[in-house]
Amino acid sequence: MVMRATLSSSLRRHAAPGNPPRQGGAPPDLTITVRERRFAGPVRERWWLAGDPVATAWHNALSATFPRGEAFFIESVRACREGAPPELEAEIRAFIRQEVNHTREHLAFNRMAENAGYDLARIDARVSELLAQARGRPPAVNVAITMALEHFTAMFAHEFLANPRHFAGAEPEAAALWRWHAAEEIEHKGVACDTFDHFTRAWPKRRRWMVRALTMELVTRLFLRNRWVDTLDLLAQDGITGWRARVRLLHYLVVRPGVLRRVFPAWLGYFRPGFHPWDRDDRALIAAVDAALPGSSPAE
Ligand SMILES: [Fe+2]
Ligand SMILES: [Fe+2]
Repeated sequence: MVMRATLSSSLRRHAAPGNPPRQGGAPPDLTITVRERRFAGPVRERWWLAGDPVATAWHNALSATFPRGEAFFIESVRACREGAPPELEAEIRAFIRQEVNHTREHLAFNRMAENAGYDLARIDARVSELLAQARGRPPAVNVAITMALEHFTAMFAHEFLANPRHFAGAEPEAAALWRWHAAEEIEHKGVACDTFDHFTRAWPKRRRWMVRALTMELVTRLFLRNRWVDTLDLLAQDGITGWRARVRLLHYLVVRPGVLRRVFPAWLGYFRPGFHPWDRDDRALIAAVDAALPGSSPAE
């Protein structure tokens, strides 16, 4: 089953009273398509990504955070949606349905990683502890955090799809799952940002920028520190510890394939006043996924 939210025009973003016009925004003909995909047995081997324990650990660590992280994204956006123009409201509904599906598939993926012998409980506990702090925080802060993390997912998604090196040699069903998720992350990358703009429409521009920039700075520090710790945790379960583990992980992240190095310019772009995730139109990457994944074409 497929659902689309057609984003009729960038004007819709500014339909609410007091919502000042901005430069950029989503392409007028963007559609957000909920691709009802299920992946059978995505992980068979312990080192499902090219037999590489480091690449496997990094992606397993990311996946372990998705179910709780995506639930937080959904809650944060929901808390700020009141009074949204109809087009943004439709976009939010599609965003929620996509994230719910991602959670379902990554829960299955995580179970398979556990079946392969990994204990993800400590990672889950760390994520829970961090997210518990969101309770009682102002909705604008939570949606700003979501907006920053959605930028991270969109940057990684772009990189995963643009550079075949990241999933070269991966088990096909696992690679298909990550590519499907990446395509939908690109597709809904503007939703949290537009919801933040809607919720804070009465704020002066400078205040919006300050919150966006400060939140990204905080999120980046926590994201990098926690994923580093999580990945080392998983590598230790493979008997890879100490300096050997750190050097191999650093090399993987910064040198080859170097995902962090490659996304750095996009990360920096977030701090530009007037930034919008759709300043870079990378829908061609989504089209390539739809063409390659049977059953996920929006036309079906
Ligand atoms: Fe997602
Ligand atoms: Fe997302």
